[in-house]
Amino acid sequence: MGRIDRLIADMTLAEKLGQLTMTAADYAVTGPVVAPVSEDAIRSGTIGNLLNLYGAEPARRIQEVAVEESRLHIPLMLGFDALHGQRTIFPIPLAETGLFDPEAWESTARKTAEECAGDGLHMTFAPMLDVSRDPRWGRIAEGPGEDPFLGSAFARAKVRGFQRASLADMGAIAACAKHYVGYGAVTAGREYASTDMSDAMLREVYLPPFRAAVETGVAAIMPAFTDLNGIPMTANGFLLRDVLRTELGFEGVVVSDYHAIAELWNHGVAGDLAEAAALALKAGVDIDMMSDAYRLGLPMALERDLVAMGDIDAAVRRVLSLKERLDLFQDPYRRGRADSGVTAQARALARDVGARSLVLLKNDGSVLPLATRRIALVGPLADAAGEMRGPWGGAGRSDDCVSVLQGLSEAGLDVRHAPGVAINTNDLSGVSSALDLCADADTIVLCLGEAALMSGEAASRAFLGLPGRQQELADAIFDKAAGKPVVVVLFSGRPLAIPQLVSHADAVVAAWFPGCEAGHAIADVLTGKVSPSGRTPVTWPRAVGQIPIFFGERSGGRPFNPDDHFTSHYSDVENSPLFPFGHGLTYGKIALSNLRIESGDPLTVKVDVANHGPRKAEETVFLFIKQKVPRVTRPGLELKGFGNIMLAPSEQGTVKLTLARPEGPAELFVGPSAAYSSLLSLPI
Ligand code: BGC
Repeated sequence: MGRIDRLIADMTLAEKLGQLTMTAADYAVTGPVVAPVSEDAIRSGTIGNLLNLYGAEPARRIQEVAVEESRLHIPLMLGFDALHGQRTIFPIPLAETGLFDPEAWESTARKTAEECAGDGLHMTFAPMLDVSRDPRWGRIAEGPGEDPFLGSAFARAKVRGFQRASLADMGAIAACAKHYVGYGAVTAGREYASTDMSDAMLREVYLPPFRAAVETGVAAIMPAFTDLNGIPMTANGFLLRDVLRTELGFEGVVVSDYHAIAELWNHGVAGDLAEAAALALKAGVDIDMMSDAYRLGLPMALERDLVAMGDIDAAVRRVLSLKERLDLFQDPYRRGRADSGVTAQARALARDVGARSLVLLKNDGSVLPLATRRIALVGPLADAAGEMRGPWGGAGRSDDCVSVLQGLSEAGLDVRHAPGVAINTNDLSGVSSALDLCADADTIVLCLGEAALMSGEAASRAFLGLPGRQQELADAIFDKAAGKPVVVVLFSGRPLAIPQLVSHADAVVAAWFPGCEAGHAIADVLTGKVSPSGRTPVTWPRAVGQIPIFFGERSGGRPFNPDDHFTSHYSDVENSPLFPFGHGLTYGKIALSNLRIESGDPLTVKVDVANHGPRKAEETVFLFIKQKVPRVTRPGLELKGFGNIMLAPSEQGTVKLTLARPEGPAELFVGPSAAYSSLLSLPI
């Protein structure tokens, strides 16, 4: 008998349910605390997994209780949300996606895993893979944007980075891809609301990143809080068992979301805790995070024949197998040998990725890079180091973060700062001193946007303008700027609907939340030390009423024609977005030409890219297809590839992309964004 068989044969019911339970400590609070962790419970084997506890010393101490003092000596598994960094905070995932660089995505995950391992953690509840086309939903910040092909590439890179070649490797932790599935489509963008979609939509848009994660060997999956077509994901046997396990071949552990099993009662599908626990277990949820439904409900469910001991044993086996793959039985203290803090090497990576995640949305008159040194730095996010972490700050500390004020000052600029207004209050009393400051400067840099916690979980918004009185501050400055360039650095966890701000500013940089090296990264781009190269992985609306707005829409039978009233349009706003998917300017002047296809399967697609500008530039090129005369209507454009090229001034190069030969006739498009007018095309 192997170790796991022996353990299962020896375990009491309470010990088995302990292995299926994950309980929160209070190092970070990510939901309601209903079952406080106690050392006695660990000692008695009735809690087998923890979340929200990290740090070499506390992790070791608590592990010692499990390993030395519990009857079966089964090590604990410790999980934490290190969404975009643990100690070193990298850009939020939406921002990082905009690098369109799988190697970079992987490298930040590797660093995060290393830091998590140093902190005694074994699992991160990441990557978050919810495709979303609704910026009202705050969690769009945590994921890879609007496109399934892009989300799949992101999924593969992140799982590789967190888990390395083997979960037993030094510095590897288990990834838990979340939130399976469709959470990004919550009704009206309102957090935790229900989702409803066609099978085609599910399989073509929301499922692919999870398929990619499973194919890459992801160790765990977390079901979404939401219901899909009427079945809560936590109890969705069809999607968790038939699709995830049978069809996709997932063999790992399913970890419920926080308190989600108990919430089956709120969904109305379970009459009591025993029913809720039985529904979840039967659907394939192995670990109960924070409901205490398995420990309290499953014994009753067993008595009522709602579940069988075999169901419990199968889940226990999956949990113990993961602990084995993590090498926890051999060496329970391997992780948690040293919490690293933020090393110089990790900082350098955060600075590099941070700078490359910034999206230059507008740069009229090439006001960027900055040509003058006397800067009025205005706005509530200019001196806001802690906000730079974004919504999931891991174990990152605000005093490890660099503000824009610090970054620009260290870059040698003569910077004077006034906040003008706060992020989200009604107080305009600081505006006049901000205006005085502007009168004395050559260039005005406005740092505006959302607070970090205005996106992320439970942070939906119905209005997507600047919060508080920031637009009024900006308007007052535009009014008085008297020909001085005004550069907006915009912080947000989502695209904002800010046409007025964009039309008045000379330059706009979408900074999202760049992480702990924010100030340095922003200074690098504003001063021209780094050429901006980020691309938006999500479409920006002009107005909330356009949402959902995304490039992969189907054209319908009456696509917009300005000469025909009875075609698809709004009467009060254009159809087009404020910025299309893939948009992002550089300091170069890029031209694409000579699109060509070399036959074979996959096809090789090549396009020449030239930089006619005076500065070096990194260009991202997107490959889309449009199927011709398909049996069912298809999106106008489907993303099938992307590639990057760095070009010196006057340099020309070729980007090579591969494309699986489409089944029927199709048209191929290549260009710098999803804006139709910018695309070169060829028939296939
Ligand atoms: C979130 C998850 C997270 C969990 C644990 C939940 O509220 O939805 O994304 O992993 O808390 O912190």
